[in-house]
Amino acid sequence: MPGRSFSFAGVAGWGVSVRIINADCREAMAAMNACSVDAIVTDPPYGLRFMGKGWDHGVPGVEFWIEALRVAKPGAHLLAFGGTRTYHRLVCAIEDAGFEIRDQIGWAFGSGFPKSRNGAWGGHGAQTGLGADRHGT
Ligand SMILES: C[S@@+](CC[C@H](N)C(=O)[O-])C[C@H]1O[C@@H](n2cnc3c(N)ncnc32)[C@H](O)[C@@H]1O
Repeated sequence: MPGRSFSFAGVAGWGVSVRIINADCREAMAAMNACSVDAIVTDPPYGLRFMGKGWDHGVPGVEFWIEALRVAKPGAHLLAFGGTRTYHRLVCAIEDAGFEIRDQIGWAFGSGFPKSRNGAWGGHGAQTGLGADRHGT
């Protein structure tokens, strides 16, 4: 439920404090102090129009990552998932915001979703036959 936050103290006996904010992350980040976040781990939209979802219209742009950099402490790390067909746009936006790209990790997996055949790219090719020409089939 957006807008609610949950706090836990002493999680797993580590003596750490964790606060979970269930909200639009753009609004949540705007309310955060600068240089207040140790690390950012995120799985943002891939821009594949996944299952027609409105939130998946594109990957977060430079302005979004500038805000992430603002709240990150100096030296903080960002780990962001990206889709196989759009991760390059994600990486460029992150770099253009000011982050230094240190490395990338590839994760090969099968999920059962036909992600290379639906959406703006594959769907268009499949419907018009352009995909067949492109792939020489
Ligand atoms: C690539 S999916 C991540 C899916 C997730 N890792 C999982 O396994 O369920 C992107 C997610 O970001 C969420 N999302 C999109 N825009 C958001 C925003 N402004 N603030 C918070 N979450 C957002 C979407 O609802 C979606 O669940």
